[in-house]
Amino acid sequence: MDGTFDNDLSKIVDMDRDHVWHHLTQHKPFETGAPRVIVEGKGIHVWDQNGKKHLDAVSGGVWTVNVGYGRESIANAVRDQLIKLNYFAGSAGSIPGAMFSERLISKMPGMSRVYYTNSGSEANEKAFKMIRQIAHKRYGGKKRKILYRDRDYHGSTIGAMSCGGQDERNAQYGPFSPDFVRVPHCMEYRRHEQDGAPDENYGEWAAEQIEQVILREGPDTVGGLCLEPVTAGGGVITPPEGYLQKVQEICRKYDILLHIDEVVCGVGRTGKEWFGYQHYGIEPDFVTMAKGVASGYAAIACCVTTERVFDMFKDDAEDPLNYFRDISTFGGCTAGPAAALENMRIIEDENLLENTAAMGDYMIDQLRALQDKHKVIGDVRGKGLFLGAELVADRDTKEPVDEKLAQKVVAECNAQAVIIGVTNRSIPGKNNTLCYSPALIATKDHIDEMIAATDVALTRVFG
Ligand SMILES: Cc1ncc(COP(=O)(O)O)c(C=O)c1O
Repeated sequence: MDGTFDNDLSKIVDMDRDHVWHHLTQHKPFETGAPRVIVEGKGIHVWDQNGKKHLDAVSGGVWTVNVGYGRESIANAVRDQLIKLNYFAGSAGSIPGAMFSERLISKMPGMSRVYYTNSGSEANEKAFKMIRQIAHKRYGGKKRKILYRDRDYHGSTIGAMSCGGQDERNAQYGPFSPDFVRVPHCMEYRRHEQDGAPDENYGEWAAEQIEQVILREGPDTVGGLCLEPVTAGGGVITPPEGYLQKVQEICRKYDILLHIDEVVCGVGRTGKEWFGYQHYGIEPDFVTMAKGVASGYAAIACCVTTERVFDMFKDDAEDPLNYFRDISTFGGCTAGPAAALENMRIIEDENLLENTAAMGDYMIDQLRALQDKHKVIGDVRGKGLFLGAELVADRDTKEPVDEKLAQKVVAECNAQAVIIGVTNRSIPGKNNTLCYSPALIATKDHIDEMIAATDVALTRVFG
């Protein structure tokens, strides 16, 4: 990669400006400036239309390219599979689908069934539908409410947004689907914003706030609880000690199915373990995953569940409605599981779970050192290579910085050819957390570069 490209990229940029509607983007600035077009990637770097090389500290922008760019072995696995069989509807099996399910389940004790689909939103919708169908089948339709937390995000469809705790993402897209009920979050750093939150045993207290909602709604009306083990776009929020264990205890007490959304955390992002929830010793009923499953080399998402849940859909074979009457056309694409198998092999053979844990520890220490230097950093948190630095105008009151300033820090990092992220149109007034999620192959040198760029950017913006 030397910054020269075969195509006339100015024409590509014109085509993009004229016809592509970018995700999550206000297009007015493109009337005068050029949109960014990413042209190539290798390892942890990408090149833009100007041939400029960037260090990608956000794995493709949204926590996705876990094993890095330019993996020929994944491309070859996909190519070979596409020539052999590109597609058949998911009502039949496929060789890579069967093989990946077996490999995946071997990493998930307690789980046993994989339902393939093609996006994180859709994987979550599958779990919602399964919970709803169980409610109809077992409880006359009554136990149909699904709880979700403030600040969590579960996808972009109207169903997933009905289960979405980010008010700025949801604004202007309602009305939403009924019987999704919001419960409080568990953000230790901002616990003073919750009435009565204690300094000690906050995790247990935060879980009990969910129980209060269950009792208010009536436990016989609540069928599921959906949450992110480490909240991503809502602020990179790790659960406080004891929280998830207590949440599981409450779910079991009231016969509520626990659905863990691992769309961001899944497949290595949090280091050491394959999944975020596995750090906390819980056994969910549903685990959904997408982004890192095949690192973006092919579209694949999975809704994984237990044999206990699966059995509920086959126990009465005489009833014509008693199976999961759902299909996802592209859930039958074989490129996804073929890429996912090779992705998993790479993570294992290159010891990327271990690297993620070690580099995550290194990076959080470096971010804490930055926090000592820049008083605008109020909190640093995360797990593995999934980290955030929350920017505040005042450390005592924890008043968030103006989000335009947080965005300026991102722009100043960009100017130094380091792409970092910031929470974006999620919580009103609180889109103030810088996000770092480099590929799991990141080295200390890469991390030093990200930290140095952030240091310069913070100095430029805040002095
Ligand atoms: C936690 C979480 N769940 C679900 C989704 C939705 O995934 P997708 O964009 O693949 O539909 C996202 C996307 O960012 C996410 O962060």
